[in-house]
Amino acid sequence: MSIDFQFDVLIIGSGAAGLMSAIQLSEKLSVGVIAKDKILEGSSYYAQGGISAVLNPDDSFESHITDTINTGFHLGNENSIRFMVEQAPKAIKDLEKAGVKFSIIGNRYDLTTEGGHSSNRVAHVADKTGQSIQINLLAEAKKHKNIKLLEEFAAVDLIVNEKRCYGAYVLDKNTQEIITFSSKKTILATGGASKSYLYTSNPDTSTGDGIAMAYRAGCEITNMEFTQFHPTCLFHPHAKSFLISETLRGEGAKLLLPSGEEFMHKYDERLELAPRDIVARAIDNEMKVHGFDCVYLDFSFKDAEWIKSRFPTITKRCSELGIDISKEALPVVPAAHYTCGGVSTNIDAQTDIPNLYAVGEVAHTGVHGANRMASNSLLECIVFAKSCAKHINNSSFDDLSHEIPQWDDSRVAPSQEKVVIAHLWHEIRLIMWNFVGIVRNNNRLKSAYFKIKQINKEVDEYYQVYTVTEDLIELRNLAQTSKIIVESALSRKESRGLHFNQDFPNQLKEKENTVITKS
Ligand code: FAD
Ligand code: SIN
Repeated sequence: MSIDFQFDVLIIGSGAAGLMSAIQLSEKLSVGVIAKDKILEGSSYYAQGGISAVLNPDDSFESHITDTINTGFHLGNENSIRFMVEQAPKAIKDLEKAGVKFSIIGNRYDLTTEGGHSSNRVAHVADKTGQSIQINLLAEAKKHKNIKLLEEFAAVDLIVNEKRCYGAYVLDKNTQEIITFSSKKTILATGGASKSYLYTSNPDTSTGDGIAMAYRAGCEITNMEFTQFHPTCLFHPHAKSFLISETLRGEGAKLLLPSGEEFMHKYDERLELAPRDIVARAIDNEMKVHGFDCVYLDFSFKDAEWIKSRFPTITKRCSELGIDISKEALPVVPAAHYTCGGVSTNIDAQTDIPNLYAVGEVAHTGVHGANRMASNSLLECIVFAKSCAKHINNSSFDDLSHEIPQWDDSRVAPSQEKVVIAHLWHEIRLIMWNFVGIVRNNNRLKSAYFKIKQINKEVDEYYQVYTVTEDLIELRNLAQTSKIIVESALSRKESRGLHFNQDFPNQLKEKENTVITKS
């Protein structure tokens, strides 16, 4: 068949994980980076809080490792965690080399804290850390002549032949044609799957595409029951997905009931700085018990000028919505924020399919266990992008002279039934929110499984007969990823970290990962 693009390395996704991988690859390799939206769009751009690293003489690697293990309820892989933590200071230097200017006080980093950290170790660029990282990584990538950046190209499926990966079939959104990208190595850097839930802090790109593509290709998918809910997203009819950073709580912000009463003391002695699973469950409980639509986050006791310079993005967005953060408490609710599970990888980001790698939120490297500690995700993206690139730079390459199967669209026709996609999309997200949310039980999980399985069947039937569009790609991936989340949740017979099941309220002694593969 005709090959439309051929690269040594194809990177699917242009978030922090994808761009960092690209710029760390040898300039001798031809590299294609595709993004299904604009290059900068993705969770990375919206990251507010920061990136964690031991940068303070009073802090230590052992302490960062212990905090990460404890926050992950001892399910994390200690080797991977140690590797990430020890590489963190170097990751900060790499970002600085690319142009990121972290906030400083005097001649040292302005390190802040968030839930689970026992020391100030979160480096940030005011409250626009992700934006600064993305703009600088993109500028750096553009300097590399071997890197081609292609936006509005949505990967549909990986090309896997005799259990080796040779690229991907991709929808060119401008022409609506499926084209073939052949590559000797392929890196999935597609981000997470939080759009499986009705309410999320994530942008529209987080539809679990990489996880679903890897699953269909035969990869192991690990620990997908651990969806992290961020405790504080702005509750406002016009504030789609707007996050109120945990670093506000790091700087002293208080959670309040509508009456103005504090409540975190009832749940954890660390109060507002308990890990996210605890704070999100506490808010969820208060809202359910009292029937509140939201709780409040109060920061108004801080100096207005300081708030504006430390949190310019949040101040501006709230002000656009008519909320003066320096004078009034913010209405907040929990929302799906982060996918702790993903495509199983080792420290070099290799999946179990030769030539296929996964980096960033799409991957399960084992560093987050049952709950990710705040600001460890950007760190994971940078550290594992580097180890992935290093592994590829040092590896041998298959030749691409063999036959790549032809994309077959001979039996499909344009759909006159687009309402079906919109309906199923909404149904999945509603089921996931109501049945597979912050607090779970067996009945709701079983019911969700039954419904999601049925939806998968309908989507498969639709996929067989209608032409592929971006909406259909995302619906198919959301349906499959949601099914994996529910299957994983049903198979865990305990409560641990982010997975809280009222029918199995205790944590087991045995620490086991949940691994799902396509049967
Ligand atoms: P993303 O940045 O999400 O990028 C995914 C890329 O994949 C995009 O380019 C997208 O277009 C592309 N893509 C997806 N599917 C396809 C497809 N089928 N074909 C082609 N391209 C595709 N973490 C921290 O550590 N610190 C923070 O302060 C922090 N704050 C956050 C704030 C918000 C609002 C959010 C949503 C997350 C935050 N996180 C934070 C989490 C962190 O930002 C993400 O986990 C991380 O940025 C993910 O990076 P990534 O490169 O893996 O994916
Ligand atoms: C935040 O700023 O609250 C998000 C931090 C994170 O997700 O790590």
